[in-house]
Amino acid sequence: MLSDHTFRDIAGLMHATIGLNLPPTKKALVASRLAPRIHRLGLGGYDDYLALINEERGDGELQVAIDLLTTNETYFFREPKHFEILKEQLGSARRRPGAAPVEVWSAAASCGDEAYSIAMVLADLQAQERLAAGWSVLGTDISDRVLRAAQAAIYPAERLRHVPQPLLRRHCLRGEGDSEGLVQVRPELRERVRFGQLNLCEEIEPLGPFDAIFLRNVLIYFDARTRREVIARVLDRLRPGGLFFIGMAEGRADLGAQVDVLGPGAFRKRPG
Ligand SMILES: C[S@@+](CC[C@H](N)C(=O)[O-])C[C@H]1O[C@@H](n2cnc3c(N)ncnc32)[C@H](O)[C@@H]1O
Repeated sequence: MLSDHTFRDIAGLMHATIGLNLPPTKKALVASRLAPRIHRLGLGGYDDYLALINEERGDGELQVAIDLLTTNETYFFREPKHFEILKEQLGSARRRPGAAPVEVWSAAASCGDEAYSIAMVLADLQAQERLAAGWSVLGTDISDRVLRAAQAAIYPAERLRHVPQPLLRRHCLRGEGDSEGLVQVRPELRERVRFGQLNLCEEIEPLGPFDAIFLRNVLIYFDARTRREVIARVLDRLRPGGLFFIGMAEGRADLGAQVDVLGPGAFRKRPG
């Protein structure tokens, strides 16, 4: 059984490491997500598991615990309005001659569905000669398991149910035989998207500045202070005038006066 004391220690470790907020109401959830792993490792219980993840700080078992306790749910063109705004805004922006190519960051990328959806929109704009060649997308996440899936870019077809048919035909390959029901993103699109591990709760290496940042459906896991810190860190990497997206259910998330609202969960960073 997971004692209150051990739960508090696990919650404290997760908060300190990745900013994950686990209130006491999540105790049963934590217990059920960790139990199969503890059983598989042949450990005596939650206390032994806590000792193990504390010992192995860095990678190893701590990373496995993070994967088990975070939610990676995602799919292509989730919250489709954001992709319409991205297309409209980037497609109509007049860029200075000689300006750097457009760069977009998917900052809690999970298995890459969001990053590849962005890439499909940018490829489409380029095909319509509304965006210069050379654009790129960066996808980052704390979890190396999801990042490996993102790099492989193979998905159950169900995850692409919201991808418009012409984009699906242009950018994806359908599996046959043993791979029936699976879809892989074509190499031409994959080479525009790179992935890397990044913890939003730590100082961010000098990245960008980006023309648009997607920070969607991750703020909900953080407490108010961590949310404010993460937003400040991420907004710092956005160009003035750049586009910023958070999950539609995440409200205004303390964005203050730094942004103008473009729609639910969609903002533009104010100049200066
Ligand atoms: C629900 S998914 C969101 C995926 C995508 N942005 C979307 O909206 O569909 C949340 C992701 O945030 C990642 N995550 C959680 N805490 C993080 C942190 N501190 N730094 C970076 N990523 C984190 C999780 O690993 C997970 O893949």
